[in-house]
Amino acid sequence: MKLKSIFFWITFLMVHTFLLSSCQTAEKNDTKEESMKKLSLDEKVEALLSQMTLEEKVNMIHASSSFTSGGVERLGIPELTMSDGPHGVRHEHGRDWEKDSNVADSSTYLPVGTALAATWNPDLGYKFGTVLGSEAKFRGKDVILGPGLNIIRDPLNGRNFEYLTEDPYLNSRMVVGYIKGIQEQGVAACAKHYIANSLEYERQKVNVLMSDRAFREIYLPGFKAAVQEGKVLTIMSAYNKFRGVYCSHSGYLLDDVLKGELGFDGVVISDWNAVKNTMEAVTVGLDIEMGTDLTMFETGFDYGKFHMGDTVVTLVKNKVIDESLVDQKVRRILSVMHRIDKFDETKKQGAYNTKEHQQIAREIADEAIVLLKNEGVLPLKKENIKKISIVGANATHKHAGAGGSSQVKAFYEITPLAGLQNLLGDDVTIEHSQGYEIGKESKANQKLINEAVKSVKGADAAIYIGGGFHGFSDDWNDNSYDAEDHDKVNMMMPFDQDELLKAVLNANPNTIVVLMGGGPVDMRAWSKDAKAIVQAWYAGMEGGNALASVLFGETNPSGKLPMTFPAKLEDSPAHALAKYPDESLVIDHKEDIFVGYRYFDTYKVEPAFAFGHGLSYTTFEYKDLKVDKKDNVVTLSLEVINTGQRKGAEVVQVYVKDEESSLKRPEKELKAFKKVFLEAGDSTTIKIELKEDAFSYYDDTQKKWVLESGKYTIEVGSSSRDIRLIGEVEF
Ligand code: GLC
Repeated sequence: MKLKSIFFWITFLMVHTFLLSSCQTAEKNDTKEESMKKLSLDEKVEALLSQMTLEEKVNMIHASSSFTSGGVERLGIPELTMSDGPHGVRHEHGRDWEKDSNVADSSTYLPVGTALAATWNPDLGYKFGTVLGSEAKFRGKDVILGPGLNIIRDPLNGRNFEYLTEDPYLNSRMVVGYIKGIQEQGVAACAKHYIANSLEYERQKVNVLMSDRAFREIYLPGFKAAVQEGKVLTIMSAYNKFRGVYCSHSGYLLDDVLKGELGFDGVVISDWNAVKNTMEAVTVGLDIEMGTDLTMFETGFDYGKFHMGDTVVTLVKNKVIDESLVDQKVRRILSVMHRIDKFDETKKQGAYNTKEHQQIAREIADEAIVLLKNEGVLPLKKENIKKISIVGANATHKHAGAGGSSQVKAFYEITPLAGLQNLLGDDVTIEHSQGYEIGKESKANQKLINEAVKSVKGADAAIYIGGGFHGFSDDWNDNSYDAEDHDKVNMMMPFDQDELLKAVLNANPNTIVVLMGGGPVDMRAWSKDAKAIVQAWYAGMEGGNALASVLFGETNPSGKLPMTFPAKLEDSPAHALAKYPDESLVIDHKEDIFVGYRYFDTYKVEPAFAFGHGLSYTTFEYKDLKVDKKDNVVTLSLEVINTGQRKGAEVVQVYVKDEESSLKRPEKELKAFKKVFLEAGDSTTIKIELKEDAFSYYDDTQKKWVLESGKYTIEVGSSSRDIRLIGEVEF
């Protein structure tokens, strides 16, 4: 027996030794790439970092051209290539900003941010992101500079169209899918602009002030969701100061909150030309300085002159700063590069201007359009119409190419008129009158008004298509409405449209009013006379087809307002409780947490149209709300029935009110929503879970979130002011 076991063990050891040596041989024979693949992410980063010189590291932490940051050719580290923007891959810029010509750089022009948010459909956020990421990948981009998720607090903000909403919860829900959609394509998303860049007025100089409570309850949640749920790989630091310190220089914002509390492990990229000082930037968590000081246009683009350029090499060599500060930044950049497979040739190739992408653009536009008012005139019936009058310059104008850095060279853009022509074909006469002139100083033009009045008088149907506008051209300085670097001067429709619209409605009271734009306009002059009002946003390349489909009932509108539409500017809390900035360059958020409907409902101010409002061609009934609570988790269930004659979608919204709070809290706060699609007569049971955070507030004396005991009301409705069921719960 003993002999046998000795023999066994000798044999076992021989086999084991053989196997071990053959693996080691195999290991020795691994190519360098294969052995790199087996390293952990951190090991891969360290393997590269350890080979880099100081100069090579510093070359990676600032721009190397208009839209790239530096690489290290010697070590096979490519540049990081970036592109705008939030709703389409921007046209090609040369390395030194000149616009490339004769390149195939048109792309899918998706609906803008407010339109996407108006769908209240996070699944569409994901689809939106897949299109954007896929097209960015195809165009060779590593980072797409979106989503824009600054809170819409002031109707005058020129870039509201690029953002999503006034509400932190809706903001959070819509960005997560968007980011995941992009990053699954092997491209880094970039949540911007961190933080509180909610106006364009002197954006590179203003100092934004707000309470900790407003910061944590209103402005931070979108970024928190982007980081902790979306796993966003890059964040863009905003131009403005926050409590006296530039966002790009703020250790509080970048290190304490973003990288510390939220655990952000990606790269902070400055907005373009947002860095103002070497030491203030290099000593905090800003990882890449982008943008171009305007003087560089004269000095020949020496990118070493960036604040985080050659000066940093000198500072390290003179031991003013430690090289570890640079290493921290480069580690993050290399880590993001690995996470988007920058070093792996097998990465996804992306796709471009595909029918599928265009279909997704159409799907989002269909769900974005908001039916604000309808007194029996919509949907139109094609069989009742021989001649239709279309009034307004927005019927034929194309918006994609303007608006600032979010501009898109659209592969095509279906205007409202083209969409109506596509739907109506040749059996209806369509007469278009411009109605108003597009121009910086244009005023009501009586000749054009008379022409429009004559047209609508004799028509079987009339549609006015006006509202907002995306600047006069893609000339940077010409953009003066719904555009970057500019705020609107008031809430009136531009180009004196009120005069025209009053005359048109007087001539044909059934005229349907369609408003394009990034947000509310002052409708007081004509809205009482309008029987139907539709908010069409800037709904992307398929916007015209989607609008026609809604107006003629092929699509049942399901959009809901992602921001309150005030009756007049002075009713907006940013103007009623705070004030538009002046030469003091201070934007003090005196409205605090009372942004949007949180203000209108708490201070009992009647809006033109409420947050979450949007009508349908069918009707929905809500019933049987049950509220259960177990271990501080509240479960709601209710039934929603489509009680109309046609299929439709409804956004069931859940608002919470703290009835006994020790701090002043809003009348209501959105804490859940669900979009349901129901055939006529069908019903569904909705179950929604509310955790403690849905009832808590941030106590900025205790510096923590607090769940107070006491009674809470739960309101379930079709908008913030159309509450259908009410429940309550005690903590
Ligand atoms: C702009 C914008 C930012 C954009 C960047 C690059 O100034 O603020 O949103 O991504 O510069 O164009």
